[in-house]
Amino acid sequence: MIEIRNLNKSYITQHARVEALRNINLTIQKGEIFGIIGLSGAGKSSLVRCINLLETPTSGEIVIDGKDLTQLKQAQLREVRRKIGMIFQHFNLLMNSTVFDNIAFPLRIAKTPETEVQKRVHELLEIVDLIEKKNVYPSQLSGGQKQRVGIARALANHPDIILSDEATSALDPTTTESILNLLKDINTRFGITIIVITHEMPVVKKLCHKVAILENGIIVEQGSVIDIFSDPGTSTSKKFLKDMIAELPDHILLDDDNHHEEIIRAAFIGKSAEEPIISHMLKCIDVDANILTGSIESIQGYQIGNLLIKLSGSRESILSAIRFLDQSGVRTEVLKNNVE
Ligand SMILES: Nc1ncnc2c1ncn2[C@@H]1O[C@H](COP(=O)(O)OP(=O)(O)O)[C@@H](O)[C@H]1O
Ligand SMILES: [Mg+2]
Repeated sequence: MIEIRNLNKSYITQHARVEALRNINLTIQKGEIFGIIGLSGAGKSSLVRCINLLETPTSGEIVIDGKDLTQLKQAQLREVRRKIGMIFQHFNLLMNSTVFDNIAFPLRIAKTPETEVQKRVHELLEIVDLIEKKNVYPSQLSGGQKQRVGIARALANHPDIILSDEATSALDPTTTESILNLLKDINTRFGITIIVITHEMPVVKKLCHKVAILENGIIVEQGSVIDIFSDPGTSTSKKFLKDMIAELPDHILLDDDNHHEEIIRAAFIGKSAEEPIISHMLKCIDVDANILTGSIESIQGYQIGNLLIKLSGSRESILSAIRFLDQSGVRTEVLKNNVE
């Protein structure tokens, strides 16, 4: 388990003091894939570099399996770091070394006997599916293949944790998909905790169990991916989900004078996304429901439907309809209320 407690990080430059992280508190369970999403400059890289103490926190604790890393001596810290692999947006490979030697690098640093190095690198080449490329130099590889080398290198010393800083941000969508599948597979096969830094919501959706949203150095929201996708609570999370959740068209926002209507957002999660709840509601309650827009997404095997519905009728029946939805396990939010 990783516990980040009251973490602050500021940089002092010639001209100013930059508060990159402010009072960050996070708990990441063993075996979890935890996403940290934010715009450029939000503090994501600072956060991930504080987790393995590549950056020294200004204050706060980084506790991994009960040990506060900020209190360790250099030699102890090196031991802990050996069990934390890292992958980067621009791969950070040694350009003058072959694929094999790149992957062997952390093993040789750890003074692993050469016969074991040979064996482990071959295992890793199998895992990332690069056996045929073992004697090739990074310049002869595609972006996706380079990242596979990066992943194999991160796995070399049997890490408990992998930190991934924008690992797919330099890759095209198809390659991104295959790298995300590989990371997911590694998480399931080896139970490795993965912290995924990204600015892309589709990465979180595809890969992560939990997510924290970072804005200007502050965590503005965190929770399970299913909860945040079905019910984003802050304007930042809504912004990230913009392409995925139904938006109220502008002209509807402007058209205001019907006093017997209400527009709601309804999020159907899991079972409720599969049941004919709206048609039951219409049978039980004297309202009209006009579906303005919506989508159904499948996230990690869970169905999440997001609909914008215009309810028309008397005030009483509109309120009953919303109550009916709430009681059926649908999350509702009133977007536009004209009911007097
Ligand atoms: N070494 C540094 N010195 C001074 N300021 C820095 C340094 N590294 C990052 N920053 C500043 O800290 C803030 C967060 O940066 P960073 O963690 O790289 O964000 P992200 O990875 O989300 O883009 C930014 O304002 C950035 O300019
Ligand atoms: Mg960054």
